[in-house]
Amino acid sequence: MMANEAGSSESSMSQSGPGDLSGFNPFDPAILAQPWEYNDRLVAEAPVHREANTGLILVSSYELVSQVLNDHETFSNRFMLMMGGGQEPKVPDAVAEVMSEGYPSVDTMLTADPPEQRRFRSLVNKGFTVRAVARLAPRIEALAAELIDAFADDGRVELRSQFSVPLPLTVIAEQLGVPRQDLAKFKEWSDGFVAQLGGMASTEEQVDAWKLIVEFQKYFEKVLNDRAENPQADIVSALINARVEGERPLNMAECLSILQQLLVAGNETTASTICEGMRLLVDNPDQLALLREDPERIPNAVEEMLRLTTPTANMWRVCIRDTELGGVEIPSGSAMLVRYSAANRDPAIFPDPHRFDVARANADEHLAFGGGVHFCLGAQLARAEMLKSFEALLERLPNPRFPKGSPPLEYPPNILLRGMTALPLEFDPA
Ligand code: HEM
Repeated sequence: MMANEAGSSESSMSQSGPGDLSGFNPFDPAILAQPWEYNDRLVAEAPVHREANTGLILVSSYELVSQVLNDHETFSNRFMLMMGGGQEPKVPDAVAEVMSEGYPSVDTMLTADPPEQRRFRSLVNKGFTVRAVARLAPRIEALAAELIDAFADDGRVELRSQFSVPLPLTVIAEQLGVPRQDLAKFKEWSDGFVAQLGGMASTEEQVDAWKLIVEFQKYFEKVLNDRAENPQADIVSALINARVEGERPLNMAECLSILQQLLVAGNETTASTICEGMRLLVDNPDQLALLREDPERIPNAVEEMLRLTTPTANMWRVCIRDTELGGVEIPSGSAMLVRYSAANRDPAIFPDPHRFDVARANADEHLAFGGGVHFCLGAQLARAEMLKSFEALLERLPNPRFPKGSPPLEYPPNILLRGMTALPLEFDPA
């Protein structure tokens, strides 16, 4: 286990013996922060596990996670329905009141199934193809250089807020046509969505999160209406003016849901992988030296970082017909958690799975971007952002290290997304 990964997992260690996983709770903040021991036991002892505290079915081995991803007719992404037992999800009155001021949440890409999911996805796909991302590469490179310029002389940086967050946030904001002066708002909205997604928020926190979401909706409602009148070459114009095969246009709630997914999916995950990737390099100087020696190794190192980071640690599925998986009966209506963070450290696929090995031969077989019909729309963009980030960070931050006496890294509880709150670093100034 890496130096900064050890942390709090001890406090959540099971009191249980082999085969008995009752001492673990997947929502325990200590387990969310450091899920590795729990994940290892799930993969080895119960790759399909009905969790006693929550009734959730956890799927953890690489093989069975892949099976779930490739069978969307049995394992649905319409998990909003699941949350409400087939009805609209129940929310506290105070939250409902704020929600009523905005547009309703509707199922689009991530929370829809084919064929609707495919239809929504095809509307924005064009902006995220290999070719579209290649066109963006010079902009990403310039942005990385600009962000580093601001702290290169200081010899110290809080990498998350000064680099890892602003880089993907600015890229997606520019893609959505958000002017620079509104970037700070954009970040706040993203945080609001992440808090709401986390599944751990108090009523008060949910109210705050929804206030931000409604603000986001009002902002983009204006932009969408403007682009309906004055279309430009951006994703927002493409959405509001889309007619697929002569079908009806998207309504405002659908456009907003898609924009929301682009905002959230593209920011938190990439920022977390950049931070965790840097943390892995600082903790493993031999691997850092390999990349410095030959920067051609960076693309494979990025895959290895994605494998070990797995910022989308878990994702929901709902089983929509009686089935069996890995010898376990799963009745229709079961809520499931696909544990990407466990599958990516399954020793059957990745030997010595907790080791950070930038030359790992099959690093790119990881499931950090999911698989099947919901395979990450932004995978190419995220890869380009990470590649450009590490090329620049390795060149311009010599001898990166943790400041003396820095406290252990913190990972706030969130059932879906795992990422550190901050990464203070020192390096030899330019
Ligand atoms: C390191 C960065 C990223 C990681 C690890 C990641 C991970 C994932 C995963 C695991 C899924 C599948 C969810 C499921 O199982 O249902 C997914 C879907 C998605 N991602 Fe990403 N993502 C990243 C970056 C991005 C970026 C940059 C964007 C776009 C700006 C993006 C947009 C999406 C969208 C729209 C979906 C839903 C696709 C669909 O359901 O058809 N992601 N992502």
